[in-house]
Amino acid sequence: MTVRIYVPRDAAALALGADRVAKALSREAETRKLDITIVRNGSRGMHWLEPLVEVETAQGRIAYGPVKPSDVASLLDAGLIEGKAHPLCLGGTEEIPFLKNQTRLTFARCGVIDPVSLEDYKSHGGLKGLENAIAMAPADVVKQVTDSGLRGRGGAGFPTGIKWKTVLDAPGDRKYIVCNADEGDSGTFADRMIMEGDPFVLIEGMAIAGLATGAAKGFVYIRSEYPQAIDAMNEAVTVARAAGVLGTSVLGSGKAFDMEIRVGAGAYVCGEETALLNSLEGKRGIVRAKPPLPALQGFMGRPTVVNNVISLASVPIIMDKGADFYRDFGMGRSRGTIPLQIAGNVKHGGLYETAFGLTLGEIIDVIGGGTATGRPVRAVQVGGPLGAYFPRALFDTPFDYEAFAAKDGLIGHAGITVFDDTVDMLKQARFAMEFCAVESCGKCTPCRIGSTRGVETADRIAQGIEPEKNRELLADLCNTMKFGSLCALGGFTPYPVLSAMNHFPEDFSPAPMVEAAE
Ligand SMILES: Cc1cc2nc3c(=O)[nH]c(=O)nc-3n(C[C@H](O)[C@H](O)[C@H](O)COP(=O)(O)O)c2cc1C
Ligand code: SF4
Repeated sequence: MTVRIYVPRDAAALALGADRVAKALSREAETRKLDITIVRNGSRGMHWLEPLVEVETAQGRIAYGPVKPSDVASLLDAGLIEGKAHPLCLGGTEEIPFLKNQTRLTFARCGVIDPVSLEDYKSHGGLKGLENAIAMAPADVVKQVTDSGLRGRGGAGFPTGIKWKTVLDAPGDRKYIVCNADEGDSGTFADRMIMEGDPFVLIEGMAIAGLATGAAKGFVYIRSEYPQAIDAMNEAVTVARAAGVLGTSVLGSGKAFDMEIRVGAGAYVCGEETALLNSLEGKRGIVRAKPPLPALQGFMGRPTVVNNVISLASVPIIMDKGADFYRDFGMGRSRGTIPLQIAGNVKHGGLYETAFGLTLGEIIDVIGGGTATGRPVRAVQVGGPLGAYFPRALFDTPFDYEAFAAKDGLIGHAGITVFDDTVDMLKQARFAMEFCAVESCGKCTPCRIGSTRGVETADRIAQGIEPEKNRELLADLCNTMKFGSLCALGGFTPYPVLSAMNHFPEDFSPAPMVEAAE
């Protein structure tokens, strides 16, 4: 019988040599006349174990990792294809605590199936949500999504159902679904992982969004730095179209929905929804003033749903299992699950999907296992480059939109970057201003000019030049940016800066400059 061996095609696994491992496996198997099929799956999200090779056995899937091409011969000698013991053997994949303790709703199939096999997708529960949506009135689909409590996973946490209702109710001869797959936040990779590991779930989510709001056309705007995700999405769209999941009659419903993959040119600000729409229309990626909301006048001036990849990819399970099922997970107004992306100086980096509500301390110390260097954790930045730095003293904060906001932080796209005690928080604050200066679209003054003045002011503090006056100036500048910027790039850059100043004041008081002795 042919044995299925899984070697991920995920970009993180590829970066760590997955292609070379797959080649070595296929070469060795040929020499040894072993009957194997190599399936290129998505990643299970345990990045420190990549490339993670799995073999299907009667006892379930057995994992080995991290595997190098030079390990392949010894793995086969030890009986890899029967799932036998080897120093790299990790036992049953699903029993690895990092995976076992997760609640995988959105990522349930990621790493499990062949990402571009529609058959595999269907045999693991795929398309049930879309089938249910087809049988319902559009307004009822929107209601399900609203009742599920799903909030946008792109950063702002806006209720997805309310956005959809605005588009449904908006007059318009054409409407659009735009999936924001720009994923510019540092330390985030959930969008990439789902597009590479389970692209059909995004296609299904977008088709449901189209049927629910009356949009017949969708676009996925993917950053150019994600070539594997672009390939996987293009391949999956072609397969879906050929199978009638997309096209003039979605699953024979008589309702049309089709989509295209578009590639962004690599500006952080093009993740901002209105800049994204400009870019999609072939214009310069510059932020538009709101109103009008994209839901009323978006792509080509038509009503448009702009949603993050994870928001859309979470819809199929809601439409499959019902709003209550999804809503039952989480805490407060943060319902369902969130794919945490644990990165930076951390022992167990990767993607961990869980219900909202774990404390930051549990995430860093227990799930992440502390720092990779073994030194104490000093700071954690949550929410990408515009997120606040949290010290250990705030590790009891539960992962929840409101709880983070109450501590002057944000969840954003759930990127979590860990720093040990060697981090210089003044440098991090300067970096935030520098990032904003580099990425600013230039439309408004507080962001365009303020960020450059911020870099200069941070430099003066570092040089010990009038530190007290310059600290006040930096805080003042932050307030101007926070309240005077047109979008969240300028408006949220103060979060990392002010949190660094407030929680780590010692780093903002460098020794005064000593005049060189004559
Ligand atoms: C500077 C900036 C960058 C952004 N980058 C992204 C991004 O990469 N991906 C994303 O989904 N949302 C991003 N957003 C948020 C989007 O403007 C928008 O809120 C989101 O796509 C809406 O989808 P959601 O409701 O599903 O979260 C960004 C916002 C700003 C201000
Ligand atoms: S805040 Fe910055 S990025 Fe946003 S519109 Fe103003 S200049 Fe552009």
